Amino acid sequence: MASIRLDKVSKQYDGHDAVIEEMDLQIRDGELLVLVGPSGCGKSTLLRMVAGLEEISAGEILIDDQVVNQLPPQKRNLAMVFQNYALYPHMTVRENLAFPLKMQRLSRDEVNRRVAQTAELLSLGNLLDRRPKQLSGGQRQRVAMGRAMVRDADAFLMDEPLSNLDAKLRVEIRSEIAALQRRLGITTLYVTHDQVEAMTLGHRVAVMRAGKLQQVATPSRLYEHPVNVFVAGFIGNPGMNVLRVMLETVDKALVFRLGEHCFTLPQSVMENYPDLPNRSGQMLLLGIRPATLTLVESGGNGSLEATMSSAEPLGHETILHVNADIDVVATDTEDPGNTLLKRPTLTAIIPGHRHFKPGETVHLQIDCDKLHCFDLQGTALAHH
Ligand SMILES: Nc1ncnc2c1ncn2[C@@H]1O[C@H](COP(=O)(O)OP(=O)(O)OP(=O)(O)O)[C@@H](O)[C@H]1O
Ligand SMILES: [Mg+2]
Repeated sequence: MASIRLDKVSKQYDGHDAVIEEMDLQIRDGELLVLVGPSGCGKSTLLRMVAGLEEISAGEILIDDQVVNQLPPQKRNLAMVFQNYALYPHMTVRENLAFPLKMQRLSRDEVNRRVAQTAELLSLGNLLDRRPKQLSGGQRQRVAMGRAMVRDADAFLMDEPLSNLDAKLRVEIRSEIAALQRRLGITTLYVTHDQVEAMTLGHRVAVMRAGKLQQVATPSRLYEHPVNVFVAGFIGNPGMNVLRVMLETVDKALVFRLGEHCFTLPQSVMENYPDLPNRSGQMLLLGIRPATLTLVESGGNGSLEATMSSAEPLGHETILHVNADIDVVATDTEDPGNTLLKRPTLTAIIPGHRHFKPGETVHLQIDCDKLHCFDLQGTALAHH
């Protein structure tokens, strides 16, 4: 077992902009840390640098406090599962599992012992004599993981290991990976672009964007206290709604307006963000989680009139996309500086299954206790 540390690690390919910029990250001994971010943000590059398959341009990578920058991959004793794994098609499952051990010149008894142990762990025992083409996608995936695990490595590096599977298998194997990791307690760095995978698997989750680390925290912390609108929009399914509003003081209470309605910021929000009173008369970005919008029968104070755009029934809940009937300037979570971008669409999640007609008028109640506050650059306001 091992801990892995990145100390100001940067990567720049010749003649290109930096792909990874001064990344500091620690994966604790026995931890499953998920690295998540949009396609192209540098996740695979980072993993390959830890594995030793890619040179780093600056900084240090340490395994158990030993700098490994110069160590070749085979000396790092890390097991990697690649984005596109490949099994040896002409070998049986048993031979596929045994192959890395034979490369290490272990005795035949030791090879057999480890193969049996890994097969037991991954429930591959009755498949050992089959070839890859006689296996289902999920079984192949497990063999690929087994081939990484059989080696008794100090840590696992997994690059989107579930990306080739259908949705049902992905959920199934995801929970198998979680259980296995817990049982073995093996340090794991797991890369994905899927925030659901990140939230369900990670002890902690590191959110990356364009080569820069945004936030590293437990899943619940990321959800409840995103440090900026990018993380707020990326985590959660669907992500947070962000609106640009003006804060005003009316009768000694801090309020914001949406359309014709005036919303008072409740005590809980004032306590969460002690700096708010100083921002009266300024613009602010408000974050509203889709699940904190509820459908109400008719407009009253604290509700918002909107026009149905589309609804996605998921069975146990329905995702609504509505156009708020207000003249509000929305903010692009991808580019918080771009505050003039108009996106009056809001997303709400309501329980159960209901039929909607496009164009229908609905009223949404905002749970103001659950509001998030960001400055115009998209950074979360100082939080208690
Ligand atoms: N050899 C290379 N030369 C120049 N740029 C490269 C090279 N390899 C990768 N890149 C660039 O580095 C960036 C990060 O790529 P990387 O593969 O790490 O992304 P990723 O986060 O794993 O994306 P995905 O989710 O699509 O797998 C991309 O913009 C990519 O174009
Ligand atoms: Mg990748």
